[in-house]
Amino acid sequence: MTNILAIYGSPRRKGNTALLLKRAVEGAREAGADVEEIVLRDLKMSPCLEIYGCKQTGRCAIRDDFQVVYDKLLACQGLMLASPIFFYTVSAHTKILMDRCQSLWVKRYWLEKTPFGKKEFKRKGLFISAGATKGKRLFDGVLLTVRYFFDALDMELWNSMLYRELDFEGDVLKHPEYLESAYTAGKQFFRAIGGHAPT
Ligand SMILES: Cc1cc2nc3c(=O)[nH]c(=O)nc-3n(C[C@H](O)[C@H](O)[C@H](O)COP(=O)(O)O)c2cc1C
Repeated sequence: MTNILAIYGSPRRKGNTALLLKRAVEGAREAGADVEEIVLRDLKMSPCLEIYGCKQTGRCAIRDDFQVVYDKLLACQGLMLASPIFFYTVSAHTKILMDRCQSLWVKRYWLEKTPFGKKEFKRKGLFISAGATKGKRLFDGVLLTVRYFFDALDMELWNSMLYRELDFEGDVLKHPEYLESAYTAGKQFFRAIGGHAPT
């Protein structure tokens, strides 16, 4: 079964990005995917301490909940990540995860000596985000961050679903078309990573 990891990066359990990702998960499952969900705010995860314990093996040396996430990140065929926009980038919960994945960057570029700028990726990622304002450049910063995060995971940023003018919890429920688009993206993502409906 094709395995997708879905990571909820908002501190709100039922916030806008959580509801959007939930729909994407439902779409992928409907298409036949095996999806595992992780809610970052439920985990105890230290920020990266920049000690580079990962230089030996590519594995982060800090013993906390990241260790389980690390194994799941390595094992999945596709990653669906959702984060709200906080000051034009990802939430702190999401950024902590990203920084801990410096261990995967070290593995890829220092230990396995992958050439920089390599354009072929083994896996794919889908990014979902929401912000309160409607500025044209609202997602400029986050997209750069997310693209390079996925790169460290040997993943192409396959698609990003970006939603403006969502602020209060549940605002997205006023836009069933947004939820529908996330559902469709989840379905398409499963196909994009090579998944087939079970026969
Ligand atoms: C700490 C913080 C920073 C924020 N920064 C921005 C911002 O830079 N731009 C913006 O449009 N919205 C910003 N917002 C609003 C959130 O992006 C918005 O409420 C979003 O819908 C929250 O998604 P969630 O419900 O999935 O957490 C911020 C909210 C918080 C709490």
